[in-house]
Amino acid sequence: MRDIRGLKNIVLMGMMGTGKTTVGKRLAQRLGREFFDSDQEIESAVGMKIPEIFARYREIRFRSEEKLVVHKLAALSGIVLATGGGAALDPDNMAALRRSGVLITLRAAPEVILERVSRKGDRPLLRKANPLAEIQILLEQREFAYRQGDIEVDTSELTPDEVADLIIERLKEKGYGKGQG
Ligand code: S3P
Repeated sequence: MRDIRGLKNIVLMGMMGTGKTTVGKRLAQRLGREFFDSDQEIESAVGMKIPEIFARYREIRFRSEEKLVVHKLAALSGIVLATGGGAALDPDNMAALRRSGVLITLRAAPEVILERVSRKGDRPLLRKANPLAEIQILLEQREFAYRQGDIEVDTSELTPDEVADLIIERLKEKGYGKGQG
């Protein structure tokens, strides 16, 4: 069995609808790694779906649960981790993720993000009269965090498999072998 101690995590970050979870699952499959999704871990820990956590306890409680989960997952090695779109805004989260992982920012055009989030899942932060404008505002506010990725991929016009291929290629170029190192 491969010894994965010390093996860097592959951490996907970026805005909602950029494909972190879908791509993360493919990457994990390809690389024979375990996949985690911070949103799912929060839902299991709290025993509620994310929209319900926001509705009952507001964003502040969600962020504190997110911080606990991110630190717990950042302490593992050799995993693929998809983070929620706001996780990277917290400097402590970023520091923990960076210590143990390679950071990959997924990007997408605002229109593509809107189309994807409308199709899949409920995002409390985008329940606004003009969600496209909200996406643009959030992207601007969050740029300082998303620009910290070691690798960036724009997923707007790529399939999840193409994105996974590209990430594996870029990891190799950076000396992570088959996503290892
Ligand atoms: C959020 C993104 C969501 C989820 C929550 C808040 C954000 O995750 O964590 O709704 O602040 O961008 P995804 O990025 O997986 O949609």
